[in-house]
Amino acid sequence: MRSADIRKKFIEFYVTQGHAEIPSAPIMPMNDPSTLFTSSGMQPLVPYLLGQKHPVGNRLVNSQKSFRAQDIEEVGDNRHTTFFEMLGNWSLGDYFKKEQLPWIFTFLTGELELDPKRLYVSVFEGNDAVPKDTESIHIWTTLFREAGIEAKLGERIFTYPAKKNWWSRSGEPEKMPPGEPGGPDSEVFFDFGMELGLHEKSIYKDEVCHPNCDCGRFMEIANSVFMQYQKQVDGTLKELSQKNVDFGGGLERMAAATADDPDVFNTDLFAPIIKNLETFSGKKYGSALQETQAMRVIADHLKAATFMINEGLFPGNKQQGYILRRLIRRAVVKIHQLGGAGSKSELGAKVYQAVGEIYDGVYFSSQSQEFLGLSQVLTEEIVRFEKVLKKGMAELSKHETISGTIAFDLLQSFGFPWELTYELALEKGQQVDRDEFQNEFRKHQALSRSAAAGMFKGGLADHSEATTKLHTAHHLLLASLQQLIDPTIKQRGSNITAERLRIDVSFGRKFTSEELQKVEDMVNKKIKENLKVTRVEMPKEVAEKIGAQMEFGTKYPDRVSVYMVGLNESIDPTSATSADYFSAEFCGGPHVSFTGTLGHFTIVKEDASSAGVRRLYAKLA
Ligand code: ALA
Repeated sequence: MRSADIRKKFIEFYVTQGHAEIPSAPIMPMNDPSTLFTSSGMQPLVPYLLGQKHPVGNRLVNSQKSFRAQDIEEVGDNRHTTFFEMLGNWSLGDYFKKEQLPWIFTFLTGELELDPKRLYVSVFEGNDAVPKDTESIHIWTTLFREAGIEAKLGERIFTYPAKKNWWSRSGEPEKMPPGEPGGPDSEVFFDFGMELGLHEKSIYKDEVCHPNCDCGRFMEIANSVFMQYQKQVDGTLKELSQKNVDFGGGLERMAAATADDPDVFNTDLFAPIIKNLETFSGKKYGSALQETQAMRVIADHLKAATFMINEGLFPGNKQQGYILRRLIRRAVVKIHQLGGAGSKSELGAKVYQAVGEIYDGVYFSSQSQEFLGLSQVLTEEIVRFEKVLKKGMAELSKHETISGTIAFDLLQSFGFPWELTYELALEKGQQVDRDEFQNEFRKHQALSRSAAAGMFKGGLADHSEATTKLHTAHHLLLASLQQLIDPTIKQRGSNITAERLRIDVSFGRKFTSEELQKVEDMVNKKIKENLKVTRVEMPKEVAEKIGAQMEFGTKYPDRVSVYMVGLNESIDPTSATSADYFSAEFCGGPHVSFTGTLGHFTIVKEDASSAGVRRLYAKLA
């Protein structure tokens, strides 16, 4: 089945069940500083899973572009990718297990025509805090029975502990930070069959075959999370005021299941990219393992890069920009390993175009000037890395043992990310001073972990007071920049922690210190005026008409939430003009109720983010 048909069928199926379709959020969340990338469909919906009313209703469906940096090391097998599309449906305190499980079973067996005999399911086995999910066991038993299958526990329906059958953004209950929602889940696996011989190679080959074994015989294709708990500060789990369903299923994997081929890279979501790699290298996908793995890495990484670039990201040395750089550089090294005489950047441009065509009309207009023009961001990074790659490789081959310090030099001088040096050294059979390297590596990881933890803690997910205040200050800052300096200034990115806010704005030159002073004064004036902050829901066209600011690269649903600061109370917000408020932005919140609580505002730094984009940091005290 074509992936476009699967996507369409899924949306239509859930729309028929009363769901409203919402657009995919950007892969780089701009108003959610708690995370670098959108890694599942639920992420942009957290405020609504926690109880806030969603503007379009309490049954939602979409296909969400997602990126999981943590899976980068797994890419190379037949099913792991960093970028994927998640088909999702949500009940925000509406229906629950007895609707969700039959629906997904009907979708898989009816719409996708998967043989129910090839489906296996898992449910949560229970622990001290949360009981075994007997209701789901009962529902699954009935569903399979109706399909003529006697579904026994331990044969068709499996129970697992929280490690496997609990879902939250941070994993098992112990790992969830306070405020985080999560719950037990129920997964569906597709059985590609014993004939593949995969189980024979598994470390579990002497045990009963079960769906959570990672030999590759079974592939998880659907996950219904019963999101009904929230982690408390004291470490316990509390029932949320509403019971939610958060469903996610990988489009790539569903396409593989319908084709009865366990390799997602053979689906139409990858095939055109692989074809380009075959032509370039003269090698055949699937014939030799190392080359096949290289093609998978290149295809996945360059696809993810294409998505990021089209959301305005540039390769850089920090945060999302650094991930983009790592993806491109790792792909370039794999292109070298794959072999082929042509220009690497031309190949990059071809792959970029192939990605555009795969998602034409869904996420890209592959013939538009905008899409075509951005290809340069990818090719320039390839050229830049090519210049140093040879020298870096030469340096690498000079040393028989790669110490942590050499790896660090390689990073400093040639821009070789840590894991790349490690991988290359191992591949060349060079000795790696594991201990020293790992020490450096651990230091590096500890740093990025604490940065990530800090982001999570300071993020809007915990709705901390400091972050919320900075979020409101962020709106005041954008409005001040537009009103004092240039009305065409647009937000190009944002990141807020409990300590500071950061905003990227389109502006062609450095701001002068006088301009920054004026802007700072204006924000402080608006804080002193103690303006009211109002949240108003309205149709998207109305929000556009009244001049509410949108985020770059975001598609919005038909009804949106708008935060207005200093709205003239005698005016109906839906017929306001810019003279009737100080600031209006499409935004999910949260915000303070009055600006007077913010404290004193200071711009602490201004520098260039990328061509035509300035980056400002500011604080409240
Ligand atoms: N949020 C769930 C997942 O990502 C559905 O698997």
